[in-house]
Amino acid sequence: MRILMVCLGNICRSPLAQGIMEKMIVFNNLDWTVDSAGTSGWHNGEQADRRSIAVAEAHGINIRQQRSRLFVQEDFEEFDLILAMDVSNYHNILKLARNEEDKKKVEMILNYSFPGENRAVPDPYYEGGFEHVYQMLEDAVEALVKAGKSGR
Ligand code: 4NP
Repeated sequence: MRILMVCLGNICRSPLAQGIMEKMIVFNNLDWTVDSAGTSGWHNGEQADRRSIAVAEAHGINIRQQRSRLFVQEDFEEFDLILAMDVSNYHNILKLARNEEDKKKVEMILNYSFPGENRAVPDPYYEGGFEHVYQMLEDAVEALVKAGKSGR
């Protein structure tokens, strides 16, 4: 499975989600890949926010190699599962979908830990709360791996 994590800037939430998934892929010896992107492109080419880097490092994950990039329509071809952090990202991704098959690939990430609730990962850029964001993402990624291993 090829997974893409998507937020607005691709510097706070989705880089963390990517780092957590990379760790889980190695830990579980999964034949999966993960990348991340942002719907805005405002931070193209930039390293993740230093607060995301710090919280990842506190959990033994290095995300320093990541660089922000824009989500593009071709991502529907490159990925099987496209995970939005909040409903705004979700709608921005769907705007680029070309058909029903593309649309079916898009899901809110917290629907893995809270099925059907369409909960959002809060944007920590201005408000902070990076550790809370980390915990939410870790729970969701663990639930996704569990679901995936049982034949998703
Ligand atoms: P992210 O957070 O979408 O989790 O990467 C944000 C990063 C930057 C901005 C907003 C949210 N910004 O307004 O530049």
